[in-house]
Amino acid sequence: MTAVLFIHGFPFDHLMWRHQLAALTRWRCIAPDLPGAGTSRGSKSADEFSMGSYADDLIARLDGLQVGPAVVCGLSMGGYIVFELLRRFPERIRAAVLLNTKAAADTPESKRGRDALAATAQHSGAQAVADELLPKVLARATLERQPAVVREVTEMILRQPVSGLVGALRALRDRPDSTPLLARIRVPVLVVAGDDDQIAPAAGMEEMASAIRGAQYVLIPESGHLSPLERPAAVNAALNAFLGQL
Ligand code: MLT
Repeated sequence: MTAVLFIHGFPFDHLMWRHQLAALTRWRCIAPDLPGAGTSRGSKSADEFSMGSYADDLIARLDGLQVGPAVVCGLSMGGYIVFELLRRFPERIRAAVLLNTKAAADTPESKRGRDALAATAQHSGAQAVADELLPKVLARATLERQPAVVREVTEMILRQPVSGLVGALRALRDRPDSTPLLARIRVPVLVVAGDDDQIAPAAGMEEMASAIRGAQYVLIPESGHLSPLERPAAVNAALNAFLGQL
């Protein structure tokens, strides 16, 4: 049975994939919490977090489960980790799904924003992070018409430990530019964008897809940055179709 490794974004945990885990029963779905997220604690200091250390942790988990080449499916920060896996462990990747993500590194201005958000988290806690991020991660349609999703995402952010939030922000700030990797990817790739994603805008994702040989591109309507929770049926259909072709 093909294994699919789901890698969550920031500041979320594996439950952002709950609809996919319930629906994609034809595959072996693996959806861990990254170190410092959800129920995964650990003793790392903030400066020890990086896309490389997240990737190492995931490979160790796959080793522990004796999983060979897997489909890796990452949303946003999860996508940045997919790029790291493709760079460093290409033999472990059967195919890749990139949702609501981008290849470029942070600009100097966005790096300053990471440090400011880390300071906010340290001084004011996860609630302040939720207040700042919620309007950016959800589509206008979701904010207006899906109160249960707004509540679920708020609660997910609130349960994240501040140490993990700060560590992830360091990893995000210092991540490498993955643009040069795109033309070298040789596995099947599905790119999934939300038409109202303010963090990874659809136009940039379509451009990213066109830089990857043979990549498929799917645009999810009325979706922001959290398409698997905002529009689960559409995302599941895209995943089912892609996985069914492998
Ligand atoms: C995420 O969802 O993982 C974050 O939006 C990533 C980012 O801020 O670059």
